[in-house]
Amino acid sequence: MNDASPFLDLDPGGPRVSVRFDGTDHALPEGANLAAALLAAGVRVFRATPVSGAPRAPFCMMGACYDCLVLIDGVTRQACMTRVTDGLVVERAPGRDLHDG
Ligand code: FES
Repeated sequence: MNDASPFLDLDPGGPRVSVRFDGTDHALPEGANLAAALLAAGVRVFRATPVSGAPRAPFCMMGACYDCLVLIDGVTRQACMTRVTDGLVVERAPGRDLHDG
C-alpha cells in the first residue's frame, strides 16, 4: 500500500497478486475491486479525456460515469467493474495527451 494514498486498504494482511499499471508493478489484494485497489496503491489518473486531455479517475464506482476506463490486457474496460486477478496488465486508456489543467 502507498502510505501517501488517502484511500484505505481494507484487507492489509490478505493475499496479494501482481498487477502492472502503466509499467509499474503493484501487489494488490486478490479479488478486490480493481479501481479501489489502484486508488489505494496511489494511482491518481486512470485516463485522459479525448477532447481536452483532462485527467480522470474513478468517480461513481458503480459503472455509470466511465471515468475509470483503462486498457486491461489490451481491452478497454471499467476498472470499477473488474476484480483484481494475478497478472493483469493495465494501461491508461487512450485519449488526448494528459495535461494538468
Ligand atoms: S468509476 Fe464510474 S464507471 Fe467506473
